[in-house]
Amino acid sequence: MRLDGKVVLITGAGSGIGAASARYMAELGASVTLAGIPAQGVDEVAAELAGRGAKTLAIPVDVTVDSQVKAAVVHTVEVFGRLDIVVANAGIQRHNTDVDLFEMEEEEWERTQDVNLRGVFRTCKHGLAQMIKQGDGGAIVIVSSITALQGRTPNVSYMTAKTGLLGLNRHIAVHYGDKGIRSNAVCPGALERTPDWDEHPDPDGRRQTMLSATPLGRLGTPEDIAPWIAFLASDDAGFATGGHYVVDGGITIT
Ligand SMILES: NC(=O)c1ccc[n+]([C@@H]2O[C@H](COP(=O)([O-])OP(=O)(O)OC[C@H]3O[C@@H](n4cnc5c(N)ncnc54)[C@H](O)[C@@H]3O)[C@@H](O)[C@H]2O)c1
Repeated sequence: MRLDGKVVLITGAGSGIGAASARYMAELGASVTLAGIPAQGVDEVAAELAGRGAKTLAIPVDVTVDSQVKAAVVHTVEVFGRLDIVVANAGIQRHNTDVDLFEMEEEEWERTQDVNLRGVFRTCKHGLAQMIKQGDGGAIVIVSSITALQGRTPNVSYMTAKTGLLGLNRHIAVHYGDKGIRSNAVCPGALERTPDWDEHPDPDGRRQTMLSATPLGRLGTPEDIAPWIAFLASDDAGFATGGHYVVDGGITIT
């Protein structure tokens, strides 16, 4: 599997799964735009990769701001000449607001939707527009979650957003397949750290609960997820579209 000559834009690329995917895809020969906030995160990962000879571009992008997402696509094309792959990965998980549905403030619901669902919509929208303009296909990988396949997740807004992403994924696959554009989603299980991990009210308790429910006997890492993202984006996955791929150490089937 190689990504030589491919241009990739990854959101939320300054840490976790996004950063691991940037490393993995750069290693396979891709030019990588690292888009996300905070700027320091994407700057550091881009500098690290550039130090190893990769072609990188770091852009501070808040996926809740449509003009910033659009500008990131434009800037990528200015620097690298085209856009082949979009990894819509940026997400938040406000553990300190894991409250009952009937107690959830609308503002909190909206904040999570704005990043995790609308942010991915914006990313796909502008990435797709560029791919259609180019006229020679492309690949989108959406980072959903196993919470899209279950009901037990405490944060209803997080779970609902991640479920919505699977609909978005299928829509893109069905409506743009004839343009050679593929879309797939990955559903990671419980990793060692979730987004906003430092805000978790009981990180050790959560870790133990997830660990004891995971058949493989360990939690995942961003490096467990990155190869799946790279594969789905690569030409080796050329007949795969509209699917979602569970990478979870087996927790979903328990
Ligand atoms: N870690 C897990 O257990 C797990 C499990 C399933 C799914 N996921 C999903 O994987 C994705 C990546 O999460 P992660 O585990 O790597 O955590 P992470 O917090 O390291 O990564 C999320 C990245 O998105 C960035 N970000 C947050 N808000 C943003 C915004 N408005 N605009 C741009 N960037 C923004 C963050 O700064 C961070 O760099 C998320 O969508 C998450 O929901 C994670």
